[in-house]
Amino acid sequence: QLKGLIGPSILNADLSKLADESRRLLDAGADYLHLDVMDGHFVPNLTIGHPVIKCLRKNIPKVYFDAHMMVAKPEQWIEEMAGAGVNQYTFHIESTPTENVPNIIRKIKEADMKVGIGIKPKTDINVISEFINDIDVVLIMTVEPGFGGQKFMGDMMEKIRWLRKTYPQLLHIEVDGGVNMKTINDCAEAGANMIVSGSALIESKQPNKDMEQMRQLIDE
Ligand code: DX5
Ligand code: ZN
Repeated sequence: QLKGLIGPSILNADLSKLADESRRLLDAGADYLHLDVMDGHFVPNLTIGHPVIKCLRKNIPKVYFDAHMMVAKPEQWIEEMAGAGVNQYTFHIESTPTENVPNIIRKIKEADMKVGIGIKPKTDINVISEFINDIDVVLIMTVEPGFGGQKFMGDMMEKIRWLRKTYPQLLHIEVDGGVNMKTINDCAEAGANMIVSGSALIESKQPNKDMEQMRQLIDE
């Protein structure tokens, strides 16, 4: 049975205190950090890039950094993100022509990072089938990417159930968007084991208790 992992997203944190906010969440029990990288092209928003992540890594050694690459040219940033200390490079299947995907996967592995592929809400889950044996994580978006604080899309849970049923050997299914103390139950039941939660944990008065409760639910 795979351990459940909680990875807060810092998108809605006070980004002027990114290291402090990250440490606060890690001290409260977070297993990894989910870093939302947006380029204003793939999504209509702009956040942080490898220079900021490199500085964050200097302050936060060792912790697993999952870079969620909401960018138009995912192959463009692989070297920089690896050099910045990123551990998992999660790009979107919709951000590149299908024929490029194997090459991007190979480049991410050559840069010694784990490979995540993100699936937007409107994208059919079976686009992932041809790559499932070559990647480490499937990221199921439960909001339209671009902003934190949006409403959880419960109908995405059937994608997670389908993955669990079709690919029992698949280890990591990550869920991202609108995950809070209520919607975590659906995610746990469907079989997600890597939980991204942004605004719910940033705003929580008791992030340690909340993360512990989330972890128990997904570990059941
Ligand atoms: C949205 C990002 C998510 C988001 C999660 O495009 O990929 O990681 O920040 O934040 P909440 O949990 O507030 O939806
Ligand atoms: Zn994200």
